[in-house]
Amino acid sequence: MADSIARTAAAVTPAPPVPATWRVGRKLLFSVDAERVHHLAMASLSVWSRVCSVDLPTSDVARAPSLRTEAFGLVFPNPLGLAAGFDKDAVAVPAWHALGFGFVEVGTVTARPQPGNERPRLFRLPADRALKNRMGFNNQGAVACVQRLERWRHAGRVKIPVGVNIGKSKVVDNADAADDYRASFGAVADVADYVVVNVSSPNTPGLRALQQKDELSRVLDVVCGDNAKRTAPRPVLVKLAPDLAFEDARACADAALHAGCRGLVLTNTTIDPTGLQGPVPEGGGGISGAPLFARSTELLRTLAREYQGKLAFMGAGGVEDGATLQAKLDAGAAVAQAYTGFVYGGPGFVRRCLRELLALRASGAAATAT
Ligand SMILES: Cc1cc2nc3c(=O)[nH]c(=O)nc-3n(C[C@H](O)[C@H](O)[C@H](O)COP(=O)(O)O)c2cc1C
Repeated sequence: MADSIARTAAAVTPAPPVPATWRVGRKLLFSVDAERVHHLAMASLSVWSRVCSVDLPTSDVARAPSLRTEAFGLVFPNPLGLAAGFDKDAVAVPAWHALGFGFVEVGTVTARPQPGNERPRLFRLPADRALKNRMGFNNQGAVACVQRLERWRHAGRVKIPVGVNIGKSKVVDNADAADDYRASFGAVADVADYVVVNVSSPNTPGLRALQQKDELSRVLDVVCGDNAKRTAPRPVLVKLAPDLAFEDARACADAALHAGCRGLVLTNTTIDPTGLQGPVPEGGGGISGAPLFARSTELLRTLAREYQGKLAFMGAGGVEDGATLQAKLDAGAAVAQAYTGFVYGGPGFVRRCLRELLALRASGAAATAT
């Protein structure tokens, strides 16, 4: 069927090589509960961010002049960002720049703080280089996130674009979603370089229903209407699910365009486990990582082609090396994000991806020249 997204997860391609030291470290870390390791890592990065302000040499690959990218009215030192959900409460913003990321999307934050779903809610699927999560927007609330971002900014510690991803508070009905998003947007707009309206998490009951065109328009018209009244409007993007049929995704893109959004983030996690090679924990949740690459890239390619010049795109889903990053850019993304690839790739992940990206471009240029 020409007009439907390939439903089968990509057969897992060979794992990108990682240094032996990280292979050992990863084995140790992967023997501990995934969420515990995440909290440990975030606590360490948060402490590092508060006590250390080392700036890296300008020759660093993350700032190679050829990687500088302008999009959404922003300047990105390189096109690889940290995807939403990793630093939900903006506790470690300086660390992401130090690790080489070209931007970071904090959140998802909601207007009201909330604890998220019951644990366990984060699982590794190592046979598929994937994760499954049903976190449920655990976060300290939009206001706490804003206060932290203000502190980082006042201290001069924000060196890369910082987007804020906003979601619907769980206790709020879909009928009142527009006001809830409006409250979050109003709170974060001053401190965010861009804002993402997230209507695609599978872990808040009913949230994905907001991807129906009329429902989405109601939310986006309110958010973008408020944005237009600001003296400094922010680029507003909408984050969609990879499980939408193309027709429905197009309807969302139309709603975004009509409301005045700048672009789309494609995509969030998938709820479709088809094609996974290894065991998958029971219960709800979204799958990310290598198995998401093909379908998220296909949706990106289709919409980027159709909305070229009207909307700009951020790619997400299965970026795990230079080749997958380049594939997102080739499919029409201005910049791309990673979450799961970073978990599997470790601290050297960003620089490896960017070095590979530069090498791919150099070999492409050399091939063209001969
Ligand atoms: C544990 C976990 C939590 C996530 N939380 C959020 C979130 O709060 N908001 C959001 O928009 N996306 C969230 N995501 C989705 C990622 O931002 C990203 O869109 C998705 O994982 C695909 O990218 P990846 O294959 O590089 O992981 C989360 C993903 C994971 C694995």
